[in-house]
Amino acid sequence: VSRVIPVDTFDLVIFGGTGDLARRKILPGLYVRFLAGQIPEGARIVGAARSEFDDDGYRSFVSESIAEFVAKSKQDKTAISEFLKCIHYVPIDALGKGGWPDLAKLMRLDTIRAFYLSVGPRLFGPLAERLHAHGIANDKSRIVVEKPFGRDLKSACALNAVLAESFEEHQIYRIDHYLGKETVQNLMAVRFGNILFEPLWNSQYVDHIQITVAETVGVGGRGGYYDKSGAMRDMVQNHMMQLLCLIAMEPPSTFEPDAVRDEKLKVIRALDPVESHEIVRGQYLEGENGASYQIEAENPDSHAESFIALRTHISNWRWNGTPIYLRTGKRLRARVSEIAVVFKDPPHSIFGPQEGRRGNVLVIRLQPDEGMNLRVTIKEPGPGGMRLIEVPLDMSFAEALGNDGDDIPDAYERLIMDVIRGNQTLFMRGDEVEAAWAWTDPIIAAWEDRHDKPKPYDPGSSGPEDSLMLLHRDGRRWREIR
Ligand code: BG6
Repeated sequence: VSRVIPVDTFDLVIFGGTGDLARRKILPGLYVRFLAGQIPEGARIVGAARSEFDDDGYRSFVSESIAEFVAKSKQDKTAISEFLKCIHYVPIDALGKGGWPDLAKLMRLDTIRAFYLSVGPRLFGPLAERLHAHGIANDKSRIVVEKPFGRDLKSACALNAVLAESFEEHQIYRIDHYLGKETVQNLMAVRFGNILFEPLWNSQYVDHIQITVAETVGVGGRGGYYDKSGAMRDMVQNHMMQLLCLIAMEPPSTFEPDAVRDEKLKVIRALDPVESHEIVRGQYLEGENGASYQIEAENPDSHAESFIALRTHISNWRWNGTPIYLRTGKRLRARVSEIAVVFKDPPHSIFGPQEGRRGNVLVIRLQPDEGMNLRVTIKEPGPGGMRLIEVPLDMSFAEALGNDGDDIPDAYERLIMDVIRGNQTLFMRGDEVEAAWAWTDPIIAAWEDRHDKPKPYDPGSSGPEDSLMLLHRDGRRWREIR
């Protein structure tokens, strides 16, 4: 039975309350928290957007989103109608005056106020400013912003500056939904809750680390956005960077927000620049199940990458000499996100040379089928002498915990409740985002200067051939995507 942390009552305003993210994630997530008993008496969730809904109209919108995006087993008629009583709506003009006095009237004194800006970044400034001008935001308010947080260092700094005009850093919650994933948080539990791993967690024992986030979907209807960003901006600068930080950071002294974020920041700042020969970009071709990237993105000359693999390195005492390989892409063979920590061989083999033997690998599977797998060496059974083989010590979290995986909360559920609780541990601090862009910018600038074209790859493959070479050259190989 999952434990529910009580929270104080709140007013949560969702700007962009009729948008896709609200429909798919935010509203269904809030309902599931309600069902779990975590939404306290009197809490109010206020949709705010351009559409001319009234409360009832928006309640129908919310109930449709629950019907579509919440697991059937969790759709309870009575609970849904109770939940809908928390829902309100205010039509608002983000760039004008309309609706603001109504919203101001709705806010209650002495209640936690959270403003979720589920809108494009160009509206962050105007919304933050109006929230203040109309006396809606106060010192106790929290503001939540979505990715993309800028498209380079300059624009990210500008967004930080705009938010800083109206809010203090401790009020700003920059979402990276990967941090809300249970298994991503588990990375910290596994590393720092066990004595077993940490002594080996350094370049003396770790040969290299591979982080893979492979998707089977294409860009679909998001081509317009995606074509201006590509995988580097869409996935590496944020989600993969966060995974890298959690796997590589020093143990924070406590699980307090700034203690954790200070350590993550140090990792990002210690990342070496990436050279052109350490990067492979790709773009998917047409396949049996769908059109090519260029058709989907409606840009026949597009040079945006739907796949990227790169080698990076953290220049610090712990990791000097251990390469880190990142790879992410769309329309790949399987949907799998995992981190593999590949250990070095024992310093001396008492069994003589063992052809083709591979060392210990710890794989943390983030999704799907969350779990851990440790490859260990044992003796091949039978009288054939001392021959070594590898076997997996495999653990599926769902099996180990005796559930069917349905109990894993969606990332947004956790993150929204953390906002209400005022806990920033799983949110990115302004300096972290800026440091991530400072590392990303020159990499992108270099390939733009070279007019580099991504390599074509077949849908359903593991990406362009060249990405295999990236590791082969170093005498290593990627784990299979399956
Ligand atoms: C989003 C990206 O942030 O993350 C998408 O914009 C990507 O392109 C998605 O598909 C992946 O998230 P998840 O939770 O499905 O791994």
